[in-house]
Amino acid sequence: MMTVREEIEQLKKERNAVILAHYYVRPEVQEIADYIGDSFYLSKIAVGLNEQVIIFCGVSFMGESAKILNPEKTVLMPDASADCAMAHMADVQTIERVRKEYKDLAVVCYINSTAELKRHSDVCVTSANAVNIVRALPERNIFFIPDRHLAHFVAEQVPEKNFIYNDGCCPIHARISQEEIHKAKAEHPRALVLAHPECPEAVLETADYIGSTSGIISYAEQSSGEEFIICTEVGVEYELRRRCPGKQFYFTETRPVCEDMKSITLEKILNVLRTGENEVLLNGSVIRESRQPLERMLDLGQK
Ligand code: 13P
Ligand code: SF4
Repeated sequence: MMTVREEIEQLKKERNAVILAHYYVRPEVQEIADYIGDSFYLSKIAVGLNEQVIIFCGVSFMGESAKILNPEKTVLMPDASADCAMAHMADVQTIERVRKEYKDLAVVCYINSTAELKRHSDVCVTSANAVNIVRALPERNIFFIPDRHLAHFVAEQVPEKNFIYNDGCCPIHARISQEEIHKAKAEHPRALVLAHPECPEAVLETADYIGSTSGIISYAEQSSGEEFIICTEVGVEYELRRRCPGKQFYFTETRPVCEDMKSITLEKILNVLRTGENEVLLNGSVIRESRQPLERMLDLGQK
């Protein structure tokens, strides 16, 4: 009898499918993925793949972005209910109101957002490219949605812009506290603190490095440090250990776990390969209109 993994491999070939996975999914899912990365890498790699079917092991905004950038492809989500809470924490009425209020304005939309929010925005960003893209925009006023923590981080790096903040955040990163980092530091005084910019400002103040998931992984790999306190979702531990054997990684006592990312299992991947269920379907005008800010991100992100 074939194992689940062998069946996935076989069906992948039969269906002409490719598996993309974010660093936050379970280790066994990262292990079988063809491409693993942060949100920016995954949206870049999704463009120009040869396979007709993309199995996206991540939350719904990631599958939607892959579909928007590749409307002719079939994008399947192993778990259709895997969603990012923050992706819904902004609204179109507020965008319209802010547009009326400020003349010289760009609506900058973190990729962790619904397609509906993207289509009302001027440009998308990820945590890996937000600073460079905002800096390159001609507009002086920036309405940054949905994440207020990432917005504050970018605002600090780009002081020449005037930021209008939105009240959204990632509930998982928001729980990471300065107190727990101090506690981890007391236990591991030589450890460097590496933090994702979705963390609250008090956490970022303690950080030796702030960056996206792939930024954190590369920093740990290249650093001469041997111990690190990692302030992002625990899924990154798999790639950190793979790339940095011998180094030590610690998380805060309240381990940051994104249950939606963890809901993706090998069995669910096998199921969508067998059945074609959970296809990402978006209407034509949503695809057309949300594609522009995503493509602008890919374009500005190269510079
Ligand atoms: P990255 O873009 O750094 O991979 O982060 C995505 C995410 O969902 C962070 O919570
Ligand atoms: Fe969304 Fe937070 Fe989960 Fe990332 S960790 S997918 S921002 S809920």
